[in-house]
Amino acid sequence: MSHHDHDPVFNTSNNPHFQDVLAQSLQNPARRGLLRGGLGLAGMAMLPGCATLTSGMAAAPNALGFPSVEKSLLDNVMLPPGYQYSVLHATGDALDSALAAYSNKGLESDDWSRRVGDHHDGMDIYYIDANGRYSEKDTGRAVLCVNHESSADAHFMHPNGQTSNRVSGKKFSQFGDWDLGVRPELEVLKEINHHGVSVVEIVKTPQGWRVKQDSPLNRRITAQTPVRISGPRAHIEAIRSFMVTRWDTAGAMARGTLNNCGHGKTPWGTYLGCEENWAYYFQTTAAGAALPAKEVASRKRYGVASAAPAAGAKKAASQGWHTVSSSDDRFARWNLAATGANAEKDFRHEANTFGFNVEIDPLAPNATPAKRTAMGRFAHEAAVCGIPKAGEPLAFYMGCDSRNEYIYKYVSTAVWDPRDVGGGLVVGDKYLSEGKLYVARFDATGRGEWLELTIADPRIANHGAYKFANQADVYVNARFAADALGATKMDRPEWGAVNHRNGEIYFALTNNSAANRTPSKTDPANPRAYMDLDGKKGMGNPNGHIIRFKEADNKSTAKAFAWDIFLFGAEEDAGDANLSGLTAKNAFSSPDGMWFSKATGICWIQTDDGAITDETNCMMLAAIPGQVGDGSKVTVKNKMVVGGVEQTGTQETFMGAALGEAKLRRFLVAPSGSEVTGITETPDGRTLFVNIQHPGELSKPLASGSAPQSMWPGNAGYGPQGRPRSATIVITRKDGGVIGL
Ligand code: FEO
Ligand code: CA
Ligand code: CA
Ligand code: CA
Repeated sequence: MSHHDHDPVFNTSNNPHFQDVLAQSLQNPARRGLLRGGLGLAGMAMLPGCATLTSGMAAAPNALGFPSVEKSLLDNVMLPPGYQYSVLHATGDALDSALAAYSNKGLESDDWSRRVGDHHDGMDIYYIDANGRYSEKDTGRAVLCVNHESSADAHFMHPNGQTSNRVSGKKFSQFGDWDLGVRPELEVLKEINHHGVSVVEIVKTPQGWRVKQDSPLNRRITAQTPVRISGPRAHIEAIRSFMVTRWDTAGAMARGTLNNCGHGKTPWGTYLGCEENWAYYFQTTAAGAALPAKEVASRKRYGVASAAPAAGAKKAASQGWHTVSSSDDRFARWNLAATGANAEKDFRHEANTFGFNVEIDPLAPNATPAKRTAMGRFAHEAAVCGIPKAGEPLAFYMGCDSRNEYIYKYVSTAVWDPRDVGGGLVVGDKYLSEGKLYVARFDATGRGEWLELTIADPRIANHGAYKFANQADVYVNARFAADALGATKMDRPEWGAVNHRNGEIYFALTNNSAANRTPSKTDPANPRAYMDLDGKKGMGNPNGHIIRFKEADNKSTAKAFAWDIFLFGAEEDAGDANLSGLTAKNAFSSPDGMWFSKATGICWIQTDDGAITDETNCMMLAAIPGQVGDGSKVTVKNKMVVGGVEQTGTQETFMGAALGEAKLRRFLVAPSGSEVTGITETPDGRTLFVNIQHPGELSKPLASGSAPQSMWPGNAGYGPQGRPRSATIVITRKDGGVIGL
């Protein structure tokens, strides 16, 4: 199964399902007022159909221009006839020509800080004009920023897998299954440095786009790179008090970024690397004072280790980076135990410095990245900016990627000024430090409400499960604040995406487990609870769905929105669960990456699946979207076995118009064991950049001597053959045409 199938649930809030919230609200006068303000939306039902928010954009296409790619279990990238791909860069490629070429045998003796990282994920492209400045036009010269989610299949980068940390004979898995031996320093340095973001100059040549080795713009931001803690002026000192460590007793600076998954591109031309499953890199050893109850509660809500593993346990929370040395801060920082006299003497707060959006200026290699605390601390998965409008605040939409977590929105205080394009991190300080943070509640009416995370709300100020000290605490422990407001627990929010033609926002809800979704535990926005008819590949909502919403009056500052479900993932023979009428040509499961082409209007959907991988590897599909409200209300029939007893139920929801095979087609099937993620394009729509992450994820440990599950891209002619590598590929049409149409 995909590593995400081990994803545990840390939302133990009793956040009610929507119907309960509504019932309570009607009994509570204060809430009734709120509801009237937010939901008394006479105008909501009459939102303009497809507002023309952007000028100069071609009308949305009516049909796709390629035949669907068949399901595939082959160890290669499969594309429609007439399309081709090449590899741009892969894990381990050297940024400098002085470094040895990648061996693909784990033989490197350098610390990986000048090589392309592992687990390519979200990415974006930044063109450079003749004066070396940021350009939105294709100049043939650019910097490509790539997130490296990385996680734990670091075994391919060492000669024989991770030393003294893998319980022999265990099937590969992301977290846990480790013993606690002291790990070799070079292995750990390589693992720390293959995380983060790669910033690499690329140039267009007659043979296509190529990496420019030795460019002064080539940069690695790793889990060790110094970063600045930034945030709202009124709260920044209090925020930094959560981040005091022995390395910076002021908490003003921190080190590195981790598990960067989806990303964001700001309207002013910077990159947001979003920190997702950062909680699993920390260990708490037995050698330390007891933690305050509030600290323990916070760690539990975020899945961070708050105590040492039980004696004899064959599990640890982390990959054991702390085991190298307790005196060298590069390693000691991964141990959260209270070993010193106070927080200034140890790293008990180190995990508080993760869980943010990290802003990077791709064209300023010496600029210190900034963690944007005003956007909240959680498992950030992508930060998607709505369509910027001059004179209005900017909205960024953000998922928290864990089962039963939430969708958030950040609205800047500053209003958009197009003259800020190209202004770098100073402009980032302007828009991303002062603003309001909201969380979404999806209601049974087909509408929803943005709930502000503010200590001024008595539900937050008086929250029972966690006593907030101040607004800084609300930012740092945003998950608790969202619990307090009754936000809707979603089926694992992955990427968001904005439809540039009408401003609507889409979110991939990748899947949820049997423990969280049963026929009696659904809600209108997460309406399915069923089982794979094969009986082997999951229960709950194993195939996921895509929800979308339209802000009231198309405003970034809207407090309410209208929503419906764009697509339900399913196998074509899934019966009642196949609500979107998928066929063998476009069946998919577990949507993850998602992105709209500005050039064509196509909605690209990428999967990270463990549920239909018996039939096909992960894939990328093209969809031609309609708009919120173009479908109808439907009744979902649910059926699954709960505690040995068959349970049935129905749930009403709102679904978009069926797309059919003309408007939803499989465009790409990926190599064995990989997920498809990360996508961007050239403005003419004729070149697509796509990331292939963790081919061979289900390989047996190297020590077993078995061949890896995948040998891509070596088997496709890129680099040394043998072990699999994550990579960025460049897709073009052989006739040079626009992709997808
Ligand atoms: Fe890293 Fe949310 O997938
Ligand atoms: Ca199946
Ligand atoms: Ca993802
Ligand atoms: Ca993923």
